[in-house]
Amino acid sequence: MCGIVGYVGPKLATPLLIEGLKRLEYRGYDSAGVAIMNGSGVETVKESGKITRLESLLSATPVVGTTGIAHTRWATHGQPNQVNAHPHVSQDGTIAVVHNGIIENSMVLKQMLEGRGYTFQSDTDTEVLAHLTQEFFEGNLEEAVIQALRMVEGTYGIAVISATDSHKIVAARKGSPLLVGLGDQEYFVASDVSAILAHTRQVVYLDDGDLAVLDRDGYRIIDLDATELQKKVSRVDWDLDQIERGGFPHFMLKEIFEQPDTIENTMRGRLLPDDGTSRLGGLNLTDDELLSFDNIVITACGTSWHSALIGENLIEELTRVPVEVEYASEFRYRNPIVNERTLCIVISQSGETADTLAAMREAKRRGARTLGIVNVVGSTIARESDGGIYLHAGPEIGVASTKAFTSQVTALLLFTLKLGRLRDMSILRGREIIDAMKAIPGQVRDILSRADEIEALAEEFKRASNFLYLGRGYNFPAALEGALKLKEISYIHAEGYPAAEMKHGPIALIDEMMPVVFIAPHDSVFDKITSNVQEVKARKGRVIAITSRDEPALKGKIDYEFRIPETLDLLGSILASVPLQLLAYYIAVKRGANVDQPRNLAKSVTVE
Ligand code: F6R
Repeated sequence: MCGIVGYVGPKLATPLLIEGLKRLEYRGYDSAGVAIMNGSGVETVKESGKITRLESLLSATPVVGTTGIAHTRWATHGQPNQVNAHPHVSQDGTIAVVHNGIIENSMVLKQMLEGRGYTFQSDTDTEVLAHLTQEFFEGNLEEAVIQALRMVEGTYGIAVISATDSHKIVAARKGSPLLVGLGDQEYFVASDVSAILAHTRQVVYLDDGDLAVLDRDGYRIIDLDATELQKKVSRVDWDLDQIERGGFPHFMLKEIFEQPDTIENTMRGRLLPDDGTSRLGGLNLTDDELLSFDNIVITACGTSWHSALIGENLIEELTRVPVEVEYASEFRYRNPIVNERTLCIVISQSGETADTLAAMREAKRRGARTLGIVNVVGSTIARESDGGIYLHAGPEIGVASTKAFTSQVTALLLFTLKLGRLRDMSILRGREIIDAMKAIPGQVRDILSRADEIEALAEEFKRASNFLYLGRGYNFPAALEGALKLKEISYIHAEGYPAAEMKHGPIALIDEMMPVVFIAPHDSVFDKITSNVQEVKARKGRVIAITSRDEPALKGKIDYEFRIPETLDLLGSILASVPLQLLAYYIAVKRGANVDQPRNLAKSVTVE
């Protein structure tokens, strides 16, 4: 979603802020802006569109100063134009604010401020914060921000500067991630660590209700009563090259190709082959506690929800514990059966998705124990869950999730092994699964070595306007995921279905124009899927089959084929998803779409 970066220190702020914004651009990118203390006041430059446009403006008219804040915007209130771009400035021009989140009572506050003579330039909710801060300002910026925030309902991650209380940044968080970066006599604020990783690895993660006050001499964290707080300094272990493209044309392709390593990293040190189980130190649950749950609820959004569906199959098959999968956005608005005998698994790459976080909090409120399956270390879900499993997949920058998905499934397998062995799964079954898991990175490597076959397929289908993806069992969620990948980056309409469900409606769509991707490896449901292939072929659909061996049953019924290696049924979705990621990627590139920054999408959806 929107991104924030701020700098105070001895260096020129503008280049650092632009560099930070570029690293944040993947989160949201319809407009961008900076506000810099230029020696005589706050100078703001903002522009709609990509950050390169803002950069050109700033190189034509440089803004010089050593304290500043910057923002990339993903519009929620008002058009993505120059006026609505952040920073927003107070009526008297002395205070500038960047904001992620939503001020829910902005209309009421706006009316109140208009009554006191303030005029509004933009359609945003953020502008009220700038004026409110001016209203309360009496020489000390943090005091004014505290007063302003006391009046605000909603969510925010903000950074504020003032021409009067200069060389200071005040940042605050409620519901939108924010961290402080500690450099050598320089301090940063950022919504995402990638913005500042080139300059520091020492960070303090802000919690809801925290305010940070940064100046050249140091930083303080206080609460909304101005009481000083002691916060832990964390070290970020991501490398800079992990957040760069490293020779690949897009982050998405880089991340697809990283999967042999990222899957390996998720498993590293966690498999116990002798006992046919796994070691998961972060669960924070004793074996007895793990055995005490009556049911498991898994909640997530988007791609993470697809991995949750695979988790449901895995856990129910191998542990016999009942599992429900819930869209996080729906979970808290119904009355789910969740109590202290429920384990709630929360899956989120970013660890910041607003709906998922809210669902987790709701589950906690109802007494459930929560486990986060999260990629971003130190993220809110990681910190607020009772325990969890980090993916260790490294930063995922491409907006379309790829490596996080395969690592999420791997993490769910690790969890299932652990719970299964505590229940009645045999050691032999455990060892069989571990052997198959160990082979996965090499098998993914094999698929990737034949990416050119998928590229040729993409050439064939790049002009399609619809796609169906069909799979059964563990490959039904893989079909959903394949369809999601295609629609989000190529803008081709695509649907995923359980293969047999097709005849209950979607079959009406099939004609010679409709490509149908069947995920049909030689698994326990292969025989069943051949009849579904037949049904499509009989209606002249164009069949693309992901198979794992020569299948006489498919002879003459498929138009295109891509082979994946064979594995256990329960691991099949990992292998099947890789060619589907590549297919979506190559089709999107061939259609000229911006793969890493698809329209209307943001990497981390931090608003409801
Ligand atoms: C799709 C995609 C999204 C995310 C969803 C949840 O490629 O990336 O559907 O999976 O927004 O995000 P996280 O996993 O960060 O909670």
